[in-house]
Amino acid sequence: MLMNKKNFRVGLGVAGGIAAYKAIEVLRLLQKSDCEVRVAMTKHATEFVQPLTFRALTESYVLVDDYATENPDPIAHINFSQTIDLLLIVPATANIIAKFANGIADDFLSSTFLASTAPVLIAPAMNTTMWENPATQRNIEQLKKDGVYFVEPIAGELACKTVGTGKLEDVENIVAQALKVMSLESEVLSLNNEQLTPDSRLQTQDLKDESLLITVGGTREAIDPVRFISNHSSGKMGFAVAEAAQMRGASVTVVAGVTSVEPPENVKAIRTISAEEMYQAVMKELPNATVFIGAAAVADYRPKTAAAEKIKKANQNFLALELEKTPDILLNVSKNRHEKLLVVGFAAETNNVADYAKSKMEKKNLDLVVANDITKKGAGFNTDTNIATILIKNSREKIELPLMSKRAMADKILDEIVKLRRK
Ligand code: CTP
Repeated sequence: MLMNKKNFRVGLGVAGGIAAYKAIEVLRLLQKSDCEVRVAMTKHATEFVQPLTFRALTESYVLVDDYATENPDPIAHINFSQTIDLLLIVPATANIIAKFANGIADDFLSSTFLASTAPVLIAPAMNTTMWENPATQRNIEQLKKDGVYFVEPIAGELACKTVGTGKLEDVENIVAQALKVMSLESEVLSLNNEQLTPDSRLQTQDLKDESLLITVGGTREAIDPVRFISNHSSGKMGFAVAEAAQMRGASVTVVAGVTSVEPPENVKAIRTISAEEMYQAVMKELPNATVFIGAAAVADYRPKTAAAEKIKKANQNFLALELEKTPDILLNVSKNRHEKLLVVGFAAETNNVADYAKSKMEKKNLDLVVANDITKKGAGFNTDTNIATILIKNSREKIELPLMSKRAMADKILDEIVKLRRK
């Protein structure tokens, strides 16, 4: 697990949901990772888990109510909030998220949120309808704008027996992200101590002479006017590279397929749907690019003919679709490269990662390939984090990138591109 050598102090806030029992496991894992943890609970959380459980495990008083006569600290919300490196909320209910987003401080945990200068990481868990409610989503957007980190809930069977998004992310992943946030924040602090601004790396304009063309997201290949073949790509990794490159002075164009997030502001984005459309858009933009990055999950095959009308079930038990290959955009870019162009590919694999990535690099004549094992926790589609290995043409070196945010990984990939250019 990734963390600095020093111990971290975590304020663990437990809100009132059925997933409250999972906060116990989070606490244990944090302790195993050398963190000191103090716990605060909402009153409703105590209906699910007794404060005594956390008290026994932390050997500290568990804060629920500032006004409780047995509370040893009369201004606990100030003292608690200002002695922690992270305020971690597991699970976060729609109610506590709404309070945080609106500055309501009517109990210990919500007062602590307001009084804290520590980074905040929220792991929501709730019923799908509550999660998808525009009010909840609005509150989350607001908190993200305020700089709060989230570990998004996952899809699965919920306590209410429905299936959908709202299940608490795996505890291991929550703890990995908590450690990551604390490591990142302490890195920024140490930069500050060296009289550098937290964003000093962003101000390095080492890509100011480069024009990046990046494919992002998944493609959709029509079966008929209603159905399509696609994949789970969210576009998060490609957009992170676009944002990082732009901040380092590059001019950036993204050719985006279908994504679950929006492109970064001020980046030129061309929207496409199918592999063919993406290919055409890339080829049109290619003459202006100095670096091409294929971060899209392009469908390798499409239906040979898309039916003009909706295919009816009729009486068939089986339906065969004849598929044909789509253009390999990366390969075509590489074949048509001008002298100055650097070509970067991604290899998302489930097994033999390094071998497949190496053979892709050779087959497609790439300068650099970012390989990731999408079966690893914290890597792959739709997460905000990734784990990868960078391979470089004519080099035996393997650059391992451990679990980190996709945004941090974007900078690491760009660092290698800058080094390649200097060669
Ligand atoms: N890629 C592309 N156009 C395609 C297929 C893939 O540009 N039609 C790019 C991806 O953007 C990625 C790289 O090729 O940068 C690797 O994609 P991947 O699908 O993992 O590899 P393939 O070469 O398609 O091999 P396979 O599916 O057999 O693993």
